[in-house]
Amino acid sequence: MPASVILGAQWGDEGKGKITDLLSEKADMVVRYQGGNNAGHTIVVGDDKFALSLIPSGVLYPTVTPVIGNGCVVDPKVMLEEMDTLTRRGIDPSRVLLSGNAHLIMPYHRKLDAVIERYLGDAMIGTTKRGIGPAYMDKYSRFGIRVQDLFDPKIFREKLEVALKDKNKQLVKVYNQLPLDVDDIYNEYMGYAERLADHITDTSLVVWQAVRDGKNVLFEGAQGTLLDIDHGTYPFVTSSNPTAGGAPVGSGIGPKEIDHVIGVVKAYISRVGTGPFPTELDDEIGDRLIDIGGEYGTVTGRKRRCGWLDTVALRYAVRVNGLTEIALTKLDVLSHFDTIKIATAYRSGDEIFTEMPRQQRVLYTCTPEYEEHPGWGDDISQMTSYDQLPPAARSYVERIEEIAGVPITTVGVGPSRAATLRR
Ligand code: GDP
Ligand code: IMO
Ligand code: MG
Repeated sequence: MPASVILGAQWGDEGKGKITDLLSEKADMVVRYQGGNNAGHTIVVGDDKFALSLIPSGVLYPTVTPVIGNGCVVDPKVMLEEMDTLTRRGIDPSRVLLSGNAHLIMPYHRKLDAVIERYLGDAMIGTTKRGIGPAYMDKYSRFGIRVQDLFDPKIFREKLEVALKDKNKQLVKVYNQLPLDVDDIYNEYMGYAERLADHITDTSLVVWQAVRDGKNVLFEGAQGTLLDIDHGTYPFVTSSNPTAGGAPVGSGIGPKEIDHVIGVVKAYISRVGTGPFPTELDDEIGDRLIDIGGEYGTVTGRKRRCGWLDTVALRYAVRVNGLTEIALTKLDVLSHFDTIKIATAYRSGDEIFTEMPRQQRVLYTCTPEYEEHPGWGDDISQMTSYDQLPPAARSYVERIEEIAGVPITTVGVGPSRAATLRR
């Protein structure tokens, strides 16, 4: 697997952290290509649990170089805190590399994220309030401040002054907030510059060299396909491209360098925040999925909305990402259900949709068409090979594989590294 993208095929929290960590054992480099500390990737090793937000999940292996690519937005305070936490826990983060072209999340981005959400009221997106959207807005409106600007204090100061003049106007006049002080931000960020200096490099070159040398390079997506700014349920999405096309752009290599695209798919589905969700279970079954699946946000602690697996969305994810394989996670959670459903189409009036509807409004009003599968009842969380799974569990997995048209190569039966069945 010289160059493989690992990405979320749903609305995030599919178990990307666990799968990336698992594949990192044989990897040389793990590259984050988009998003920022809105991500929460959980890795469980024995009794230890790590929740990573910005640092790539390969960091737990001393043989892996973790890279934060140009497509990410970086809150330097969070990055340094995360590295400090890892150090305290015996993990050496000194190998982490950061692109000078990545954009900085500034204090006004965090503040605007929070006040814009409040202003939107019922129309809110339910963001993580980490400043992600406002930071990407500045990037695309060319008001952004990049990591490399930290090392050119005069330019940093000039850019900060221009940006802050505009942001303070918004904060004060539109959102009725207190203005932020330029000196405070300048001094704070100059302090980060000193500590980050050793990590900054031309990551595009480093990643390209690794790929060219035949090293195993993983590109770790954050969020998921349905949260993609172009291909997701806009506007209830994040502000970047978690889909596979984001990987070459967000890391600075050509698309032909990517060999595999692994979609991480939860055996059911969840979403945090607002937006349409055809298979959402607003009932006792949904509550059980939340409870048994431990479906609480890693970043914000919010309860995740849960529902049955949606294979219209899954086939869409196979298509827009060009998935070459699937890692199916959390199959063990379904052991507690007598009947398990899979949505295979959406019905809206007389119309049946087997592909994602062109008009998004259908997602709000449609009724999913389900096929039912018998549960298996047995605890599968200690099983160590795919063949040990009860026939009903295998037939569930194989039915998903048939619908997706892509091999399911990995099946997760618990949070830990060990609870993984390879096929
Ligand atoms: P990510 O954002 O895609 O990395 O996923 P999160 O870490 O936010 O959420 C996935 C949750 O499911 C975490 O708590 C994982 O420890 C857990 N998890 C991952 N794979 C499995 C699995 O196969 N079974 C169970 N029971 N839990 C899993
Ligand atoms: P991982 O990588 C699930 C959701 C937020 C909100 C929307 C926009 O752990 O899968 P943002 O703060 O990005 O502007 O919020 O996207 N969201 C996620 N949901 N998992 C994530 O990351 C998410 N990152 C953002 O809840 O609905
Ligand atoms: Mg998560």
